[in-house]
Amino acid sequence: MFKVGIITSSDKGFKGEREDLSGPIIAELVEAKGYKIIRQTIVPDVMEDLTGEMIYMADELKVDLILTTGGTGFNKRDITPEATLSVCDRVANGIAEAIRYHSLSITPRAMLSRAVSGIRGNTLIINLPGSPKAVKEALDYALDSIYHGLEILTDRVSDCAGK
Ligand code: MTE
Repeated sequence: MFKVGIITSSDKGFKGEREDLSGPIIAELVEAKGYKIIRQTIVPDVMEDLTGEMIYMADELKVDLILTTGGTGFNKRDITPEATLSVCDRVANGIAEAIRYHSLSITPRAMLSRAVSGIRGNTLIINLPGSPKAVKEALDYALDSIYHGLEILTDRVSDCAGK
């Protein structure tokens, strides 16, 4: 069973001024696929809070997958992609690109997502957009492939068997 950490990046969510609907949707979708949620948290759109949480989840809690929501847009406070890249040691751009590509068939505004994906040690980190609708659209599309990526990252399978 893969271990997951979920991070919502939101100033308003952190202060309790806005209900976080996206974090719970991620939790529901990954649990339905058999992942175990180890930690789910809301942080403000602050570099040290985001990187600190990602490093804690990856290095201390040793989660296999970190999913973030929010902070990927053009607002000046949106810095989730920069925080993610700063803690990753390997790129895994394809996942964020595939989500963006798929999302473009739903709304042209998907081009405004600056989401990235990468690997820190044994942990895959993927940015998702902030809205609950966008999160569901992204995960419904990508979760099966993400699962296979995690199998390889964690040495459960040694390579791709087609598809
Ligand atoms: N992706 C999907 N699948 N569905 C959506 O409705 N909205 C987009 C985009 N990605 C959207 C989407 C919009 S409007 C924005 S501004 C960007 O994600 C960035 O989102 P964020 O600022 O909420 O992180």
